[in-house]
Amino acid sequence: MVKILVAEKLNEKGLDVLYASGMDIVYNKDITREELLDTIHEYDALIVRSLPIVDKELLDKATKLRVVGRAGNGVDNIDMEAATNQGVVVVNTPDSNSISACELTIGLLIAACRNISEANNCLKHGEWGRSRFQGVELSGKTLGIIGLGRIGTLVANRMKAFNMNIIAYDPYITDEQFARGRAEKKERLEDLLREADVITIHTPKTAETLGMIDREQFAMMKDGVRVVNCARGGLYNEEALAEALKSGKVAGAACDVLSKEPCTDSPLYAFPNFTVTPHIGATTTEAQESVGICVAEEVVNALKGELVANAVNMPVLKNEDLLTIKPYMRLGELLGKIYHQLQKKPVYKVAVDYCGEAAELDTGMITRAVLRGLFEPILKEQINYVNAMKVAEARGVGVIESKEQDAGHFPGLIRVKVYAGQRVYRYCGTIFGLDDPRIVEIDGYRFDFRPEPNMILVENVNKPGMIGKIGTVMGENNINISAMQVCPGGDNEVAMMTFGISREPSEEQLENIAALDDVLKVRFVEF
Ligand code: NAD
Ligand code: MLT
Repeated sequence: MVKILVAEKLNEKGLDVLYASGMDIVYNKDITREELLDTIHEYDALIVRSLPIVDKELLDKATKLRVVGRAGNGVDNIDMEAATNQGVVVVNTPDSNSISACELTIGLLIAACRNISEANNCLKHGEWGRSRFQGVELSGKTLGIIGLGRIGTLVANRMKAFNMNIIAYDPYITDEQFARGRAEKKERLEDLLREADVITIHTPKTAETLGMIDREQFAMMKDGVRVVNCARGGLYNEEALAEALKSGKVAGAACDVLSKEPCTDSPLYAFPNFTVTPHIGATTTEAQESVGICVAEEVVNALKGELVANAVNMPVLKNEDLLTIKPYMRLGELLGKIYHQLQKKPVYKVAVDYCGEAAELDTGMITRAVLRGLFEPILKEQINYVNAMKVAEARGVGVIESKEQDAGHFPGLIRVKVYAGQRVYRYCGTIFGLDDPRIVEIDGYRFDFRPEPNMILVENVNKPGMIGKIGTVMGENNINISAMQVCPGGDNEVAMMTFGISREPSEEQLENIAALDDVLKVRFVEF
């Protein structure tokens, strides 16, 4: 039975979704690293939040693992490269906790400007001290946002209502995204650092962003600046932050995240104007329920082989695109499957042309489906949508996509060209109606057939009587034909016949057909 390990606390509604799937669920929210390493080989899927480290050591032992579900947004606790190489799909819940993280950011921002936590502590320790806690207003000030993605944009839009002037630095987004955040674009981080009265960071933790706010960057900031980090620990160098708090350069700082977590002791904790929370950005009833349900649904769908919207190591698909892309993925996989069942030469390049309505789709997943189909007959379960590109690369197979408007008389067409030896082999297909795949060309032979699970392809001399002869031998061998088509080749001398049949024929039965006069080649093809 398919087995899922939930290795960190998960909302009850998410657990309900898992139990309802009928799969075997092990909920061990306090599992130790040792236990995880010892038992991971038993599981098909693993669900974590941010504490368990899903690194190469763990993945190497996870011989059955197909899916890692991250109940949350950041995937910095998961070795994406190792997961991808191993064909393990990683899913997360990028939208489910953004509002909660944004709202905590604003809470911290105000705390840093109004000394809320320090005032709270003093009062609870018997000191009224009202005059000590003079803060600053946000209205009319400049907020600098580093990283204007989902959460950065939510913060920007809300802080407009505080009458703040918003500036942002994010070298990876378009001008439209700056406009959506109603933020003035800063081309250089330095410009943001010099102009902002309050700074908040919302980037992921990457090699580039780790420690991106260091001594040099703090030195560029305005005296008395306030800084917030509700994204990932380590984006601000914590030693540099401590020095800036000590010197007064930074008048107030607030962080929900620290470079090492859990962290119950840090030099930063000594500063009264440093407010800290234990990574609770997503810890709201709404976010946890939404994250729990979302990750559970994604993991179950991924295990069932269905497409998932939030797969981190595959192209992300919008829910509304899934319906149109799915039939073309199926078609791409069917077309990919043909080559290795007909030819034995090593492939060095695959080109996929998307024509007509197929060209309008987000084709990344369809190309992966073509590759999965292509390699499946020779690699079996080692190839999936996650590692398809990597497998092609590792095998030295170049992959090219192109798009063209003209699909001939079809609404949409996929043309798969497989380069091997001196030749290019072409396989084309289309979708009839909403989701009915048809093969319309096999290497120069034009057809219009629905791929059946079991098919026989026969090449023969193009002369009268061949259909009858071959049909008779099939009948004598108890092979039931469910569909049949014939196509003369371009030179009219040879033809190809395709037969949909009820079951896989034996070698001997295929040989009986191949032994007929004027039959040139007989191949069994599975779709
Ligand atoms: P996102 O991917 O939507 O946005 C991140 C933005 O950072 C992107 O626009 C990207 O272009 C930008 N970026 C990347 N590198 C950059 C760089 N070098 N300089 C400037 N900008 C850069 O992510 P999001 O959903 O907005 O999440 C933001 C952060 O918040 C992540 O680190 C996430 O893990 C964290 N997060 C924390 C909590 C929490 O509990 N505290 C909750 C949710 C998310
Ligand atoms: C996230 O990346 O989603 C947050 O850090 C929250 C969490 O880990 O739960």
